[in-house]
Amino acid sequence: MKTIVLSLGGSVLVPSLESNNISRYAAVLREIAQHCRVFVVIGGGGEARRYIGVARSLGMDEASSDELGIRVTRINAALLAGALHDTAYPAVATSCQEAKQFGESGKIVVMGGVAPAQTTDAVSAVLAEYVHADVLVNATSVDGIYSADPKTDPSARRYDALTPEELIAIIAGDRLHAGSNAVIDIVAAKVIQRSSISLVVLDGRDPENVKNALLGETFRGSVVNPDKQNPLPL
Ligand code: UTP
Repeated sequence: MKTIVLSLGGSVLVPSLESNNISRYAAVLREIAQHCRVFVVIGGGGEARRYIGVARSLGMDEASSDELGIRVTRINAALLAGALHDTAYPAVATSCQEAKQFGESGKIVVMGGVAPAQTTDAVSAVLAEYVHADVLVNATSVDGIYSADPKTDPSARRYDALTPEELIAIIAGDRLHAGSNAVIDIVAAKVIQRSSISLVVLDGRDPENVKNALLGETFRGSVVNPDKQNPLPL
């Protein structure tokens, strides 16, 4: 059975607490888990940013503010694990080693962040190394990797496939601009480069897209690996 790590942005799973995608994602993940081993890393989204903003305004240091962000990722993760009932391991993993261990149960494993000064993108890439994932899927709020931010630059071009080196060059270029918001962070990109992990970036605002990509229908997104080959469907 193949193994996937799915990085699910908080803004995708919980765009707002009231109108969230948790039960839709639970349904899709249950279906995917019939075909492969699944690990899910959940982000903090807007709620994490709000807590971090308040923490900073209270004079808290950056690492302590990150700890609050991590707590929000784990709350989001706990909501998804709860919605998955018996299909998920009942505890939210607090480290990648723990996630690997929980995975021995054969259930879907859900986790959030792990330590300050990281993002859940980086966590998901490291987890993909630990569990020897066949593919790392990043479900985000854009439909792939662009040459520039498509939300602000109309000339931005979307890539169907990239090598890890090409991805790193794009991120490095983007970082020269203040307020840059590359779709994948540099740590995650470096990890997938060193381990030649296949990465797929796709639009996760509709959970069906993720299901279609993994289970064999056409999808729109970007593939990153050394030979630019689409690793999907599994
Ligand atoms: P993320 O930045 O990973 O959230 O974590 P996200 O949901 O993916 O963001 P969107 O939805 O794509 O926009 C939120 C915050 O939690 C802290 C950081 O402060 C991060 O900005 N965090 C997260 C850590 O410090 N360590 C971690 O391992 C994970």
